[in-house]
Amino acid sequence: MTSGDDDYATPDRLAIYLEIGWSDYLYGTKPGSQSADEPRYPNPRQDRVPPNFPVAAINLAKQWAQTLALDPRSVCDVGGATGRALFELDRQFPSLERLVLVEPSKRFCEWAQRLLASDEALPEVPLADRIGTPKWVAPRARPRPIEDAPERVSIVNAPLELYTPERGFDLVSCFNVIDRHPRPSKLLEALGGLLNDGGLLVLSSPFDFRAASTPDPASWIDDLNALFADTDSWSHVGEEELYYEYRLHDRSWTRLCAQVVAKRRRA
Ligand SMILES: C[S@@+](CC[C@H](N)C(=O)[O-])C[C@H]1O[C@@H](n2cnc3c(N)ncnc32)[C@H](O)[C@@H]1O
Repeated sequence: MTSGDDDYATPDRLAIYLEIGWSDYLYGTKPGSQSADEPRYPNPRQDRVPPNFPVAAINLAKQWAQTLALDPRSVCDVGGATGRALFELDRQFPSLERLVLVEPSKRFCEWAQRLLASDEALPEVPLADRIGTPKWVAPRARPRPIEDAPERVSIVNAPLELYTPERGFDLVSCFNVIDRHPRPSKLLEALGGLLNDGGLLVLSSPFDFRAASTPDPASWIDDLNALFADTDSWSHVGEEELYYEYRLHDRSWTRLCAQVVAKRRRA
């Protein structure tokens, strides 16, 4: 992919992903229910999507790393959009010295750079509103950038296939990218190539496959474990299910359920 065909460059796509990742900071997140006794459907016209998925997924990564007594010094989040998972990794793993985001969308990388590695005031942000037409609003707040970001954080604007790091990683995460990739098994191969021996891969997918991104239906799996048949290379660490939501516009609120698996690369 080149910057000229950035699928995520339009303001409405950016609005969706900024909300998934950062609504608690940028827009304020209203809860989806008033009380346990008085549940209600979220109102897409007023409520905000809470960024619960990256937070919950990285919490799981932390639990799984603890079961292995793994204190990662380096992490790579692949397809991490505007960087919320990397932000959570930094919060959960004080041992991290090197944090890398690999993301092909130029627009997402620009926002990740602003949010993770700069303390400058943010410009107006797009907020999901009328179909195809977000409204631009002043952000309510911004996250504090990652400490020592210039030395510790790298944002690589490339698809994973074009990224060749000098050193491997102790922890690799890749959330909800497999079903946007032309060849899921090739993506897994490339993810495995990033890991140091004994390193941990945390992978998730809601299996929302589409012919436009994954043309061969034979590769539309429904269980991530199917990608890890080679048990000489991988050992199973854990598995969970997590939901996440996105707001396409102010009349459309979608919930997906992702399988999250953790696998350790054998030495
Ligand atoms: C559905 S979004 C998921 C974003 C984020 N990980 C999340 O869970 O909210 C898919 C992301 O994968 C990225 N992506 C697509 N193909 C990729 C590739 N070959 N290498 C790395 N990232 C890729 C897209 O640019 C996009 O940011």
